[in-house]
Amino acid sequence: MKFFIDTANLAQIKEAQDLGILDGVTTNPSLMAKEGITGQENIINHYKKICEVVDGDVSAEVIGTTYEEMIKEGEVLAALHDQIVVKVPMIKDGIKAIKYFSDKGIKTNCTLVFSVGQALLAAKAGATYVSPFIGRLDDVSSDGLNLIHEIRTIYDNYNFDTEILAASVRHTMHIIDCAKIGADVMTGPLSAIEGLLKHPLTDIGLEKFLADYKKGNA
Ligand code: E4P
Repeated sequence: MKFFIDTANLAQIKEAQDLGILDGVTTNPSLMAKEGITGQENIINHYKKICEVVDGDVSAEVIGTTYEEMIKEGEVLAALHDQIVVKVPMIKDGIKAIKYFSDKGIKTNCTLVFSVGQALLAAKAGATYVSPFIGRLDDVSSDGLNLIHEIRTIYDNYNFDTEILAASVRHTMHIIDCAKIGADVMTGPLSAIEGLLKHPLTDIGLEKFLADYKKGNA
């Protein structure tokens, strides 16, 4: 399972990269705005900086919503760095754009996916990644993990190459459950990744080992 971090915060990306387990980064316009990155030039420079910090795919989202706008923007983004994945919304023109990028060998991430039907279309269009938003589904009393399960079944039935990127991961158990189901990738906050480290018995055990070592080597 690949681990992506879902942030535009360079310090957090570096921290995850230094842990040695990071496979990529996802961003979106809200995450860029949260870091105060505004204006086309700053946004472009920020994507370049992220690519320098991380080894792996970096999703950069288009703002346009027509086919022509998405193609134009996506080509600029893809030319920035070979790690860039063009993130395209799940709308009719988005599907057309994903097909165009796929035919040109440009990697894509189909974002804002909330149903199996949408995921099926994204795979048919040749998306590199499909991003079902599990946390946002949970927020409205729908079962986000079940969506991952259903997409896994459909993609396996037809051997689609599109990777399931479980997005809108909110906590550590989401990561574990997605791994059980067989999501190819998860993207979440650093806190959810670091939650995997924690167990009180580890802390108690280490404290005891160190105390016993000190007694024997006083
Ligand atoms: C996906 O790529 C999105 O950036 C992200 O996972 C959205 O998560 P949120 O629902 O926590 O905003």
